[in-house]
Amino acid sequence: MATLNEKKTCSERMADFRRFVWNPETKLFMGRSLINWVWIILYYLAFYVVMSGLFALSIYSLMRTINPYEPDYQDQLKSPGVTLRPDVYGDRGLQIYYNVSDNKTWEGLVTTLHTFLTAYTPAAQHLNINCTNNTYFIQDTFDGPNKTKLSCKFTSDMLQNCSGITDPTFGFPEGKPCFIIKMNRIIKFYPGNGTAPRVNCTYVDEELLPLEADYYPVNGTFSLHYFPYYGKKAQPSYSNPLVAVKFLNITRNVEVKIVCKVIGAGITYNVHDPYEGKVEFKLKIED
Ligand SMILES: *[C@@H]1O[C@H](CO)[C@@H](O)[C@H](O)[C@H]1NC(C)=O
Ligand SMILES: *[C@@H]1O[C@H](CO)[C@@H](O)[C@H](O)[C@H]1NC(C)=O
Ligand SMILES: *[C@@H]1O[C@H](CO)[C@@H](O)[C@H](O)[C@H]1NC(C)=O
Ligand SMILES: *[C@@H]1O[C@H](CO)[C@@H](O)[C@H](O)[C@H]1NC(C)=O
Ligand SMILES: *[C@@H]1O[C@H](CO)[C@@H](O)[C@H](O)[C@H]1NC(C)=O
Ligand SMILES: *[C@@H]1O[C@H](CO)[C@@H](O)[C@H](O)[C@H]1NC(C)=O
Ligand SMILES: *[C@@H]1O[C@H](CO)[C@@H](O)[C@H](O)[C@H]1NC(C)=O
Ligand SMILES: *[C@@H]1O[C@H](CO)[C@@H](O)[C@H](O)[C@H]1NC(C)=O
Ligand SMILES: *[C@@H]1O[C@H](CO)[C@@H](O)[C@H](O)[C@H]1NC(C)=O
Ligand SMILES: *[C@@H]1O[C@H](CO)[C@@H](O)[C@H](O)[C@H]1NC(C)=O
Repeated sequence: MATLNEKKTCSERMADFRRFVWNPETKLFMGRSLINWVWIILYYLAFYVVMSGLFALSIYSLMRTINPYEPDYQDQLKSPGVTLRPDVYGDRGLQIYYNVSDNKTWEGLVTTLHTFLTAYTPAAQHLNINCTNNTYFIQDTFDGPNKTKLSCKFTSDMLQNCSGITDPTFGFPEGKPCFIIKMNRIIKFYPGNGTAPRVNCTYVDEELLPLEADYYPVNGTFSLHYFPYYGKKAQPSYSNPLVAVKFLNITRNVEVKIVCKVIGAGITYNVHDPYEGKVEFKLKIED
């Protein structure tokens, strides 16, 4: 009895629903007259056209205010990060261990350097100009092709004995390895206040012990004509200047901690960041 009653209610509901969708007596479609529906559709059509117009207008005016040559939101970095090549990380930061007697332990390090320097071949740098000034290369106009600013060449031969050209093994098998130090770009940063910033590497623990090293280019400087950097769009062919350091007398079979600091006005160090303004690493040369 109960099931029969429920069935009846169900079919009744279906009929009710059908009458709601189209009521032939009142001629109402889903509770509204057809002309009413047309007005509602027109209303929403107009509403969405206006809304998307407002949206497009606000996006357009935002884009107008954005300078394509400079990111609006720059990292609050005041001092550049410094990186090292070859870059092998141990469990606590950069850690380069190798054995002069075992080619396999240093061939990867040498390959890393060669690969890194492919961006500094004359062919890779052909769009950039020769600079010799060692003064800030300030460009207020766009003198380069396609509304760009010019960039200075940095070719690997400037790293002389650490260029990988005269010595393709970068001194690794002799136990006098070359390391390459790169300072990260900061837009419109003028490091050094008129004096080229310079790299100086020292032992971390035994600061009094002199660390014998050769620096390339001479005196380990980042020439001022590579600064300021105007951004990726203004200087599409810009490449960071480099400094190479060749360690000449590292005690064998002992882990030494070395810090290479970039010294210059405007370059600061942070105890909490081992890569701000400097780079720290561990080196162990075995034989
Ligand atoms: C370095 O490599 C040589 C040759 O493979 C090996 O005899 C020597 O024990 C290695 N040195 C160390 C400290 O592992
Ligand atoms: C190591 O390199 C030297 C030359 O650089 C080569 O004569 C020697 O055969 C190499 N040894 C191995 C095991 O690859
Ligand atoms: C730039 O210098 C290189 C070598 O130092 C030279 O071959 C080249 O012709 C120079 N380019 C210009 C445009 O002066
Ligand atoms: C070099 O310096 C002179 C004078 O300061 C300047 O006129 C010239 O444009 C500079 N050249 C480059 C390539 O920066
Ligand atoms: C300038 O831009 C055009 C079109 O994007 C490109 O074909 C040309 O190679 C560019 N010239 C230079 C020097 O980059
Ligand atoms: C490069 O290395 C050679 C041989 O080791 C050395 O005689 C020369 O002085 C070095 N060049 C520089 C600029 O240090
Ligand atoms: C930059 O150098 C000039 C003169 O050499 C000095 O007057 C000025 O205070 C320096 N500025 C900074 C930020 O060190
Ligand atoms: C590097 O710094 C150390 C300690 O601050 C100093 O004794 C040394 O003379 C500096 N080396 C160079 C080449 O400036
Ligand atoms: C290198 O530094 C020394 C001493 O600070 C200086 O006399 C020399 O002119 C510098 N060389 C270059 C090429 O800047
Ligand atoms: C290399 O360093 C050691 C100490 O680590 C020192 O006794 C030796 O005299 C140095 N060699 C040279 C050529 O300076």
